Amino acid sequence: MRKKNVRMNQSKGALLTIKQKIAKRRARHDYDKKEFIAEIQDLLQHQKVQSMKQYIQHSDVNCFEHCMKVAYYNYKVCKKLGLDKRSAARGGMLHDFFLYDWHQRKVRLDNTLHGFSHPYTALRNAKHYFRLNAKEQDIIEKHMFPLTPRFPKYPESVVIILTDKFVSTGEVFDRFFKKKRSA
Ligand SMILES: [Fe+2]
Ligand SMILES: [Fe+2]
Repeated sequence: MRKKNVRMNQSKGALLTIKQKIAKRRARHDYDKKEFIAEIQDLLQHQKVQSMKQYIQHSDVNCFEHCMKVAYYNYKVCKKLGLDKRSAARGGMLHDFFLYDWHQRKVRLDNTLHGFSHPYTALRNAKHYFRLNAKEQDIIEKHMFPLTPRFPKYPESVVIILTDKFVSTGEVFDRFFKKKRSA
């Protein structure tokens, strides 16, 4: 009987610890989200950034949503690694700020393939509308490496190369599974 009570108390204690851990993780997640939004608030309010909502990036995800996701993962990873989380978030939000529908070939006036040229277009646009530090510029310019041959200069730029590929792959695969489900 005594043994049974001890075991019950132990499992109650373990359950409480799990609950506390979940609550702690949730609180940290909420805090991170608020901090992330605060870092890019001025960008989110800008009409040109909002206009990214009219361009599809992958599947049914628009360019604005895609940039938000990449920026958030950038921010999270860089925060965890003790890197510049603010530049990671801001560079991430503007990394695909090319402002055209890349599915329509005619819009590309410079005759270059979107995959190779859009980081430079995005950087040109971002510099036109916002003041960017060197890290933010590098994040935008190098995010397609190695498709674009310039090496990333900062660890935050290496992070976006990975987060952008991770998010993009998820968006493309999501379309594949949606298609399969509806077939
Ligand atoms: Fe891109
Ligand atoms: Fe992207």
